[in-house]
Amino acid sequence: MGKDGKETPFCQSNKCSCVVFLLIVGGVAAVVCVTLLVKDLRSIYDHDGGGESEAPWWKKTIIYQIYPRSFQDSDGDGVGDLQGIISRLWYFNYLNVGAIWLSPFFTSPMKDFGYDVSNYTEVDPLFGDMDDFDNLIKEAKSKGIKVIIDFVPNHTSNESSWFDLSRHAADESDPYWNFYIWNEGTTNPDGSRSPPDNWKSVFEGSAWEWDDVRKAYYYHAFLSSQPDLNYRNEHVLEKIDEVIRFWMDKGVDGLRIDAIPHLFEIANQSIDEPAGASNGFDENLHKYIKNQPEIFKVVKRWRAILDTYEAADGTSRFLLAETVGIPHEARMNYYKAGSVPFFFNLIPAKEKCGATATCFLEIIRDGMNLTEGQWPNFVIGNHDNKRIADRMGDVNVDAMNMMLLTLPGTPTTYYGEELGMRGGDYTGMTPKDPYAITSNNAENSRDSERNPMQWNDTLNAGFSNSTTGTWLPIQPNTDYMHINVEVERNLDNSSLNLYRKLAELRQKEAFQNANIEFPESVSDVLVYVRGVEGDRYAVALNFGEAKHGIDITKLGYTKGTLVLSTKSEKDKTIDLSNIQLDKGEGFIVHLDE
Ligand code: NOJ
Ligand code: MG
Repeated sequence: MGKDGKETPFCQSNKCSCVVFLLIVGGVAAVVCVTLLVKDLRSIYDHDGGGESEAPWWKKTIIYQIYPRSFQDSDGDGVGDLQGIISRLWYFNYLNVGAIWLSPFFTSPMKDFGYDVSNYTEVDPLFGDMDDFDNLIKEAKSKGIKVIIDFVPNHTSNESSWFDLSRHAADESDPYWNFYIWNEGTTNPDGSRSPPDNWKSVFEGSAWEWDDVRKAYYYHAFLSSQPDLNYRNEHVLEKIDEVIRFWMDKGVDGLRIDAIPHLFEIANQSIDEPAGASNGFDENLHKYIKNQPEIFKVVKRWRAILDTYEAADGTSRFLLAETVGIPHEARMNYYKAGSVPFFFNLIPAKEKCGATATCFLEIIRDGMNLTEGQWPNFVIGNHDNKRIADRMGDVNVDAMNMMLLTLPGTPTTYYGEELGMRGGDYTGMTPKDPYAITSNNAENSRDSERNPMQWNDTLNAGFSNSTTGTWLPIQPNTDYMHINVEVERNLDNSSLNLYRKLAELRQKEAFQNANIEFPESVSDVLVYVRGVEGDRYAVALNFGEAKHGIDITKLGYTKGTLVLSTKSEKDKTIDLSNIQLDKGEGFIVHLDE
């Protein structure tokens, strides 16, 4: 009651204001709590990234892989470098690409061209110095380009100071004693030594190499000059954490984790692998030296480090795992640990299932076989596999790029594929690739796909002004006089211009979610629909051997307008019941609904 005896309207007394105030404060607090909780859940399941109001950057962009040796040489020594990359950053804006991934540029004796790191926190002089790297980050940021770097935790170079300390460690009291995986092996009746088991390296025979200083064998999943670190040792984990923080502090936006399935081997080193477990990259037979469950705890640990950076500035950090030869269950576990495992199965499509439309449909279904919150990704080339033109023929390159850029999820493009570059034909030349050398098989050589980027039709295709040659020469078979950035820029229907248009188109909301509709089956032409309500697109790609007609009305749409084609025509109305596609032709139709 008020002083005058009248009823005070609700809440005009001091006491009441107090209650309302408390209610408001409580309400705001509750909203804040719920928001934080939702944000928390989202970052656990989705890694959508701290405060970003929309999808994180890595869900929206194409990732473009740069092999630094081969992209652009700035100092004329015939090997690409960081200054070279800086001078070409404009190209990514031009391409509509928002993120680059740099293969290793760290100090290295280059036995595996940088995947043998001797110092994780230095730039190899061949590529420049730390100021160059800082400038690269600064320049990339100013152009809105995210930078992902390669992170090679499984092994170091045998020239790493850590390895030296480990070989010379006297006993267990030395923190470096167990930094690598040492085993004294067995002594034969004649006094000679043998490795403890039959484990094989990816690149050559036994995975064990005798070290005369330590008087023990060390394990190496790859070259004998790439000893594996021992992830059962907390010191190793701590040192590697520091490496991650070092690069995160420098402002990198993500890491591509090299060779992660090899991070652990079983602890009991006297158990042999099953018969049939082989050397080589692509096998899945390894029971004891690949895909061990301990991996995921370590990935989570690294994710947690990245999360602290996300939390500090609200921008996602991307963790991309190089997962060659993993079973489906492991793939799920990489997601659960907060990384995105590369889905590589489109790369071997030709050899595995003939690269027919049915084959691609199967692979894509598999790639999309994910659960809520797991973001898809597709990749069609890299520095370990033949270029698309060499695997699939020149005729299919544009359709392959069209497929890559219209599939759901994050696509990764290997440099030069946007031009339809062919790999260099180095037959007759002594291979540079250590894999070809140690396996004594030129067929294993990865030199071809590492050929220099073709910028124009001048000396060394504009890659370098060296007059004494480039680390891998530009070969006549690449037709670099015609297949290069400068020529293709000025050609309306070039691979390059198609790529740019695709990259622009995929920025539409219609291509930015994980929705895709397929028919039950396909015959010679791969077809699928992408889009959102009111803005849908049919993509049709002929990977067959001849021209084919198709009827795609069974997808429920009858008409549409051509928006992009591997041929130059567009804007014409298309009758979806009768589409004729040439071999290697692909198109995208905006559907009438
Ligand atoms: C995978 C890399 O992609 C490959 O190029 C390298 O040789 C091995 N890891 C060893 O580091
Ligand atoms: Mg290992």
